[in-house]
Amino acid sequence: MTAAARRNPLVHDRRLLVEPSILSADFARLGEECASALAAGGDALHVDVMDGHFVPNLSMGPVVCAAVHRACPEAFLDVHLMVTDPARWIEPFAKAGAGHLQFHAEAVPDPAPVAAAIRAAGMTAGIVINPDTPAEACFCALAHVDTVMLMSVHPGHAGQSFIGRVLAKGPALRARMSPGQRLMIDGGVSPANSAECRAAGCDVLISASAIFGAPDRAAAIAAIRG
Ligand code: DX5
Ligand code: ZN
Repeated sequence: MTAAARRNPLVHDRRLLVEPSILSADFARLGEECASALAAGGDALHVDVMDGHFVPNLSMGPVVCAAVHRACPEAFLDVHLMVTDPARWIEPFAKAGAGHLQFHAEAVPDPAPVAAAIRAAGMTAGIVINPDTPAEACFCALAHVDTVMLMSVHPGHAGQSFIGRVLAKGPALRARMSPGQRLMIDGGVSPANSAECRAAGCDVLISASAIFGAPDRAAAIAAIRG
């Protein structure tokens, strides 16, 4: 099944979505871990891509994304590019089964052509801002993207503490976004703060350690969903 043909929950579901981030999965058993997160109620899988340059860590690339796609062909894959040159990775991730591709406002001088190229490759497009980046930095991108994502940790690792002050950006963004656009939040999201995230206007909640590290993943996802 092609990414374009797969049902895109970011577009077709109006309800709140919870995306397990596979960064905290057991990589030695990645296919089983992805299936477990979906069976526990995950609406899509979040794939964190780090280049060791935009962020000081390396994670996974198109080969791993393609392996996840083969293991769970029905899963919708949301790929978060924490890379210096996102345009270079559009085609490889489209071929690897990504359905949504997100890139950082801090990485590109003009988000419009990057978002257009993502859409031309058959995916939906998202812009991401780091905790210290003001909401205004992505206003110029809003006409060109399907989602905006607030980072609530400094990107690079799973398991960091939630930075609550980023939620102040939610209402300002929501006021400028269309009802069909999604406001996502990523980093340190857990049952302890998900109500605050929802109250700030976030309708896609991403979590790695609070889901993969929980003894009962279904209960963790249900608690995050609220
Ligand atoms: C951070 C990644 C996040 C990360 C979240 O750089 O973008 O998606 O996996 O991990 P937790 O939920 O453990 O903070
Ligand atoms: Zn992420």
